[in-house]
Amino acid sequence: MTKQYRVALIPGDGIGPEVVAEGVKVLKEIEKVDSTVSFSFTEFPWGCEYYLENGKMMDDNALEQLKDYDAIYLGAVGYPGVPDHISLRDLLIKIRKGFDQYVNLRPVTLLHPELTPLKSKAEKDIDMLVIRENSEGEYAGAGEWLFKDKPEEVVLQTGVFSRKGTERIIRHAYEEARKTNRTLTSISKGNALNYSMVFWDQIFEEVGKEYPDVQTYSYLVDAASLYFVSQPERFEVVVTSNLFGDIVTDIGAAITGGLGLATGANINPEKKYPSMFEPVHGSAPDIAGKGVANPIAAIWSVSQMLDFFEMEEWGEAVLTTIKKIIKEGTYLTPDLGGNASTEELGNRFVELLLLEN
Ligand code: NAI
Ligand code: MG
Repeated sequence: MTKQYRVALIPGDGIGPEVVAEGVKVLKEIEKVDSTVSFSFTEFPWGCEYYLENGKMMDDNALEQLKDYDAIYLGAVGYPGVPDHISLRDLLIKIRKGFDQYVNLRPVTLLHPELTPLKSKAEKDIDMLVIRENSEGEYAGAGEWLFKDKPEEVVLQTGVFSRKGTERIIRHAYEEARKTNRTLTSISKGNALNYSMVFWDQIFEEVGKEYPDVQTYSYLVDAASLYFVSQPERFEVVVTSNLFGDIVTDIGAAITGGLGLATGANINPEKKYPSMFEPVHGSAPDIAGKGVANPIAAIWSVSQMLDFFEMEEWGEAVLTTIKKIIKEGTYLTPDLGGNASTEELGNRFVELLLLEN
């Protein structure tokens, strides 16, 4: 029987459409050689260009239009002329929140030793999965701006940590660690954030009682940042809050080869709503339209999507092929020191993928 997956495409702005095209190419090739699966794609024209014409980033009933897809594949949004808080809040955050994508999965994996600026670190040293809380915490948007523009002006930005929200992300991380037989590290800051992070640490311990088989560590975020650089081998599965996760995964990108390679999945584990797969990078207006954007991050997102569809063999095959194309070195984009175009890299990628599968 053929399994059918419906994928909503939001290529977005700048290099978004360029890299999404290569990811879609990979899915289409898989469909060609694997008769057990088929993908259909529907493209949505939303993003900043749409905003400039229509005064909104996406249709008013966008979530209604997207809700029955199995996954959303997003390029990037953001463009000069549209304030970043609009493009981010009115599209990305709306989808993440509206579809309760409370798990942000960011692999920090070194694919080739030459990609890391860290001396004497190899692939075996940098291979972790950061699980970032994606629905509340420091990014809940709660707070107040009092006495605006007066001398006594005060602003409050409130971190929101609900029991439900904290428990479910931590439980998800324990499950992942158990399933893959890896250690679990919680990153928090209980010594300074005397409500939110003391609570976080407490929940980490409470839930941990149900997972006596999982070896755990708990680090303060400042120490963890140092270890990301000096001893990344300490980390296997990592769970952390929205803000801390945002920051440490950028360190993760830095130690594994930069933005052209970093990917992140926004998951609604219950599958009540579609999950969203996207490269971490933005629309890169400085190189947009030149055909030189690195599509590897977007292709890695496809690997995450395949894992999510429980096609782990294909997910693994895509990741292995990413390693191969980097090792081969002939078809890389300028950010990785090559002179191939986005499309040339994508074409070579599917050749290599099919060679083995
Ligand atoms: P950016 O990620 O777009 O670019 C940062 C630098 O990395 C640029 O020099 C760019 O050329 C390079 N770069 C990024 N992706 C690359 C790739 N695939 N291949 C080769 N080089 C790559 O971040 P920036 O410049 O801060 O933001 C540009 C726009 O993107 C802004 O409007 C911002 O709001 C938006 N943005 C959107 C995101 C999203 O849709 N998830 C995430 C981050 C930024
Ligand atoms: Mg970020």
